[in-house]
Amino acid sequence: MTQFILNNTEIKTTLSPGMTMLDFVRYNQHLTGTKIGCREGDCGACTMLIGTLTDGRMKYHAVTSCLMPIGNAHGKHVVTIEGINLKELTLVQESFAQFGATQCGFCTPGFIVSLTGYCLDEKSPSSEKAIDAVNGNICRCTGYKSIEKAAYTVSEKLASRQGVDAISFAVKNNIVPEYFLKIPEKIKLIQANPHIVSTNKKVGGGTDLYVQQHDTIANETIDFLLDQDYLKGITQVGNACEMGASTTVAEMSDDPILNLHFKNLQKYFKLVSSVPIRNMATVAGNFTNASPIGDLTIMFLALDAQLELSDDQQKRNIALRDFYKGYKQLDKNSNEIIEKIRFELPATSDFFNFEKVSKRTHLDIASVNSAILLQMNGDVIETAGLSAGGVGPIPKYLSRSSAFLKGKSVTEKIIMELIELVQEEISPISDARGTEQYKRLLLSQLIKAHFIGFFPLLKKDLLLSNGLIGQ
Ligand SMILES: Cc1cc2nc3c(=O)[nH]c(=O)nc-3n(C[C@H](O)[C@H](O)[C@H](O)COP(=O)(O)OP(=O)(O)OC[C@H]3O[C@@H](n4cnc5c(N)ncnc54)[C@H](O)[C@@H]3O)c2cc1C
Ligand code: FES
Ligand code: FES
Repeated sequence: MTQFILNNTEIKTTLSPGMTMLDFVRYNQHLTGTKIGCREGDCGACTMLIGTLTDGRMKYHAVTSCLMPIGNAHGKHVVTIEGINLKELTLVQESFAQFGATQCGFCTPGFIVSLTGYCLDEKSPSSEKAIDAVNGNICRCTGYKSIEKAAYTVSEKLASRQGVDAISFAVKNNIVPEYFLKIPEKIKLIQANPHIVSTNKKVGGGTDLYVQQHDTIANETIDFLLDQDYLKGITQVGNACEMGASTTVAEMSDDPILNLHFKNLQKYFKLVSSVPIRNMATVAGNFTNASPIGDLTIMFLALDAQLELSDDQQKRNIALRDFYKGYKQLDKNSNEIIEKIRFELPATSDFFNFEKVSKRTHLDIASVNSAILLQMNGDVIETAGLSAGGVGPIPKYLSRSSAFLKGKSVTEKIIMELIELVQEEISPISDARGTEQYKRLLLSQLIKAHFIGFFPLLKKDLLLSNGLIGQ
């Protein structure tokens, strides 16, 4: 039995928990305000808000309901455009009307829901955050300027919120209906789903499986991993970080420990998908889908992450670097799941960087991506971890190139030798994301970008050696 609150209505359903929330809401509940666009997480027409009771307070985030199984909504508050509506226009709807931010209206419910989610976020408002909140929504007819103006205006109205909690403020200021205040009491009455161990299909956030297996997955028997407590949390143990396998990209992005040790964390994660996908996508899902360009996989290969696998009888540890055996082939039995990820947190003297090139800056998978960790002893590299995606059948840890860097000082000559060695280690193919030669060139440039970022004085020499600027 799956139980959740849909808008202001309690739902108890025995329908297949693998069914998408989008289909449930439209075809079972006949709430058709939420639109069906791409069904691949790209357009945002199907955006809903999911509220989770955390430490006695509701936290809302936007999701693409076309990729969300109803099983992942158990014990939560699901909000559609109908659940936001008041008798009059809400503040967000009013702003859209004022700036003419809607024409055909197909995308509009998705935009309104995303921006309403932004209004319910406790973080201090800013125009940049308001625009980020709609980075998973596409409009094909209005043009984005009027939508931007509407978003800025909403954001300005939040400036007077100081000290008042976001939901009470939203209720008082015509952003959401009053029933939102009663949701925590209702959520408390729903029992958590038990921890299930079986050979069933495992779903984390569903953002990969629901794109790949959309037609079949709804009727499969599924173990839902996203909300299992034992798979959540980020903790520091000595110099190491332990992270539950179902940690989402958004949770990593907000985490104080990670932000302390990775100064550009926000910048890296902005390059990963969009806000609603980041709210669902888990780290273990990224590792296990074994995409040769998985962004998190590439980051964690450089960090030499260790995985704890379990079939509930036995646990074993394996390096992420040894997890990939061939294209989409893993060192993992079908009944094993990843439970934990462990890695050493970089010290302040270490250098870490992640670079990604894709056809679009946002909401696109990489053509080529790369991450690097350098642990320094003065000017000398003590250990190095270099990884690259999109340059072979598996996400690639560049073992020979990493070993080459050990004991070296960083000079232009060493970087050029490194790039030559990297070219021997990779085997890109020509495909929709670029030719083999283009991907080889991209990776060389990304390696230079890593080092130029760490050692800005190298910049001129490196560019000269590439013939990119005149002598
Ligand atoms: C629009 C869109 C944009 C995207 N953009 C990016 C991007 O920019 N960068 C990127 O890297 N990816 C991107 N992705 C891919 C995807 O979102 C990520 O790979 C995500 O991390 C997958 O996690 P998930 O929890 O949703 O996986 P799921 O779909 O739930 O599962 C994926 C696989 O992992 C398995 N699995 C899940 N959890 C576990 C576990 N604990 N143990 C063992 N197996 C497990 C599942 O059985 C399945 O085989 C995008 C996807 C979409 C739809
Ligand atoms: S229908 Fe396009 S993101 Fe869901
Ligand atoms: S108003 Fe038509 S797609 Fe946005």
